[in-house]
Amino acid sequence: MGKTIISPSILSADFAKLGQEISDAKDAGADWIHIDVMDGHFVPNITIGVPVVKSIRKSTDLILDTHLMIENPQKYVEPFAKAGADILTFHYEACKSDAEVIEVINHIKSFGIKAGISIKPKTQPDSIFPFLEMVDLVLVMTVEPGFGGQEFMHDCAQKIPSIREKSREDLIIQVDGGINNITSKICTSLGANSLVAGSYIYKSDDYKKAVRSLLN
Ligand code: DX5
Ligand code: ZN
Repeated sequence: MGKTIISPSILSADFAKLGQEISDAKDAGADWIHIDVMDGHFVPNITIGVPVVKSIRKSTDLILDTHLMIENPQKYVEPFAKAGADILTFHYEACKSDAEVIEVINHIKSFGIKAGISIKPKTQPDSIFPFLEMVDLVLVMTVEPGFGGQEFMHDCAQKIPSIREKSREDLIIQVDGGINNITSKICTSLGANSLVAGSYIYKSDDYKKAVRSLLN
């Protein structure tokens, strides 16, 4: 497998100096920037919306890896795509049927950007097997979505090999939640090749050292 993609989650960054926090992450070796969109319905928290993504787009050339933890993702694909997201990852659990999942994937792809599908801790990986050929990325949540700084759930990482086994070689398997220098290696050895890390990077006093320690 190729390089492991590091995607710092700005949820743990200082929002009062977001542009600087993103460029610092880039200097530290980040490949993508992970943007957590929460609507207060799909998850209890409210975070970032379309105007913020638009501003981030103007301030960085990093890939905007946008994680939609929202109900009714279909409705918001277009605004986030037009705001400049490069990847839109939505939740399998936010869709009412398999047909809706396919509609959301196709809608995302119609904007020429990458489509990702995510599963929460209690969702079994076989629920998304029918869609593996259609998506660019699978995000395996390793905490209950909603907040940064939670503890890594080891059971969730055990879903990775079965997804890897069923998927084509270029599928990106991303993990998100509780990723640090120890849990990152557990995930990559199980087959993940994209690591989201929020508090581990943004709450550290040396972003470069933190990014490096996720890899070796
Ligand atoms: C949680 C979010 C994560 C969060 C991860 O719902 O999807 O991206 O920022 O935070 P850490 O890395 O602190 O667990
Ligand atoms: Zn996330």
